[in-house]
Amino acid sequence: MIEAVRVAVAGVGNNTSALVQGIAYYRQSGALVGLSRPVIDGVGVGDVEFVAAFATSPGKIGKDLTEAIFLAPNNFPRLDCELPPAGVPVTEGLRDGDGIDRVAAKLAGADVLLYSAPSGRPATALAYAEAARRAGVAFVNTTSDAVARDPECLARFTAAGVPLLGDDLASQFGTSVLHDALLRLLAERGLSLVSSYQVLWAAPQPPPPGGPVSAAMSPRPPRCSSRRRARRSEARGGREWARLRR
Ligand SMILES: NC(=O)c1ccc[n+]([C@@H]2O[C@H](COP(=O)([O-])OP(=O)(O)OC[C@H]3O[C@@H](n4cnc5c(N)ncnc54)[C@H](O)[C@@H]3O)[C@@H](O)[C@H]2O)c1
Repeated sequence: MIEAVRVAVAGVGNNTSALVQGIAYYRQSGALVGLSRPVIDGVGVGDVEFVAAFATSPGKIGKDLTEAIFLAPNNFPRLDCELPPAGVPVTEGLRDGDGIDRVAAKLAGADVLLYSAPSGRPATALAYAEAARRAGVAFVNTTSDAVARDPECLARFTAAGVPLLGDDLASQFGTSVLHDALLRLLAERGLSLVSSYQVLWAAPQPPPPGGPVSAAMSPRPPRCSSRRRARRSEARGGREWARLRR
């Protein structure tokens, strides 16, 4: 029986801050509030251990994970709990396909690599997935980039017998769950749904040619259908696999 899950994180942002602090909070308080599944197959929320962390921000690299999660621009609130040092120094992550074996070597001893860098970078997502596959470590993709739904990537993980989970994460009470609930409500009320999309107002947008334009001044607000975004991401992902295989 599994006694603990050893997790490596790629991306030391707000998700990771919430996770690291949340585990410490639940471990210390014994509270169950907010947890939909406090125990899964005998493993409790307090049985998660962090064993490695990867980042690209120079300010976070070299810091203990429990220190790095509070560095700007992270702004997830500080929870009311003790946070002893994890003993896990944040190390240099991947930006593209270079350094996959270096990261794979650092994953020794991990059960899972949780990928939590910004969405919209399929090359990076696939490079971390490949590092996990080479290390025989399960990969969980919290981003909307196509990894688990990339047929080639899925086939490689399947052949290696390594779990691959994703894609994307739903916040406890964020736009995804709200969107789903509204769609279910429409169906329940007998309405026919023709199409749906989510509007991302705060998503980072690449600057347009000619320099950045603020959202307020932009002729159109930054908006992106998740379906359209997923299609673009899948197309980019396919090209990245072709590059990684070379
Ligand atoms: N926060 C949520 O509620 C939520 C919900 C659904 C999905 N997601 C997805 O989860 C991912 C992370 O969300 P977040 O809120 O923590 O974002 P965040 O911007 O707070 O954190 C992302 C971190 O990844 C780092 N990073 C960038 N490139 C990297 C690389 N190559 N290797 C390692 N680290 C890198 C950034 O410096 C940053 O610290 C995003 O893709 C987001 O779309 C988040």
